[in-house]
Amino acid sequence: MRILVIGSGGREHALVWKLVQSPKCKKIYCAPGNAGIAKLAECVPIKTDDITELISFAKKQKIDLTIVGPEFPLTLGIADDFQRNGLRIFGPSKRASALEASKAYAKQFMQKYGISTANYGTFTDSQEARAFVKSSGLPVVIKADGLAAGKGVIICKNEADANAAIDAMLKREEFGEAGRRIVIEEFLEGEEASFICISDGENVLPLASSQDHKAVYDNDQGPNTGGMGAYSPAPVVTDELKERIMKEIIKPAIAGMAAEGRPFIGFLYAGLMISNGVPRVLEFNVRMGDPETEPLLVRMRTDFIDLIEAALDGKLNKMEIRWDDAVSLCVIMSSRGYPGHYTNGIEILGIEEAEKVPGTVIFHSGTALKEGKLVTDGGRVLGVTALGASYAEAFGRAYEAAGKITWDGVHYRKDIGWRALK
Ligand code: AMP
Ligand code: GLY
Repeated sequence: MRILVIGSGGREHALVWKLVQSPKCKKIYCAPGNAGIAKLAECVPIKTDDITELISFAKKQKIDLTIVGPEFPLTLGIADDFQRNGLRIFGPSKRASALEASKAYAKQFMQKYGISTANYGTFTDSQEARAFVKSSGLPVVIKADGLAAGKGVIICKNEADANAAIDAMLKREEFGEAGRRIVIEEFLEGEEASFICISDGENVLPLASSQDHKAVYDNDQGPNTGGMGAYSPAPVVTDELKERIMKEIIKPAIAGMAAEGRPFIGFLYAGLMISNGVPRVLEFNVRMGDPETEPLLVRMRTDFIDLIEAALDGKLNKMEIRWDDAVSLCVIMSSRGYPGHYTNGIEILGIEEAEKVPGTVIFHSGTALKEGKLVTDGGRVLGVTALGASYAEAFGRAYEAAGKITWDGVHYRKDIGWRALK
């Protein structure tokens, strides 16, 4: 098969890495890819949201299957457009992608189908939003309705902070279109987990569990990022809890989307807050997570093309996903300043030495080649991922490898996996 992967991050590097292991994969392209992906796939300089160009490329290269990594092209309707052009693509339709594109839609959907989530209100008027905050307890969580690259969620401990967040979104429009409508919700306590599933629109299979680390600094301090590291499985998701999540959250969501005339065919990611063994949904994403994909795919034993084809053919009920017994852990190495301002183009040293650490795969999140040298090209730069017989072993390997990599301004957390190690 001739395959096209869309995206340029660590998630897409992991997807390509996994896809090329399939005997069915004869040729693979990635648009636009990065320097790490370029070692496994032919990278083509087409932006992820240039759907017209992607369709014409897929036709010209006779692509048999396209797999979409990030949410943005999905919310633009890339799956619908490819299908209209007779091209096979895996990812939810524009209408199904509303689960991530609009938090107000997702909340209302969850309410309608009895899926447990924080109490909330939706607002476009700042006076009404302020009144809601006054009448609800603190802290509150204020969210831009639309896509905001992981920056649209503000946790407010007091009323003044909440009013400032409301004004930033609704009055000053600092979040643009995404923040013209906001969701204000109850603050939930507990432990987070990422629960990612694959669905054919009717049947749904869970992947292994994982846990992300959103804050930029150790001990979960500092601003939230796209994710500073992840591991799989997450011990907080026991077998019993997994069954409960499938029964109370995932299956009702898939059935609900079908009932809404928006069948969900793709990866459904539930970001969960687990408190005293009770799971509640913080958000839905309509794609795999990054960095969760990296530790997940190094553990997956099932052929990825078989899995995607089963989903596209509506046959996930006949499929089983097999996993390595080993656990895995991924440490994100990032640019100084991320998630704020940072500088690109800084030479990265030591990757070859790091790759020699047993059980380790180094996925590139934001790298490029400049005059033959590997340089930084993004806030998140590398995802150093290791397998181990125990969390301690995976942790030791990932950090041994990370310790061999240097550049001017490298930053990474030193405590990825602390909950599992405890
Ligand atoms: P979201 O994009 O909705 O997942 O929000 C990003 C992060 O904000 C989550 O991973 C949580 O750490 C935090 N968060 C979001 N909603 C809530 C909530 N209702 N209670 C507590 N923390 C939340
Ligand atoms: N790691 C969080 C996300 O992919 O949304």
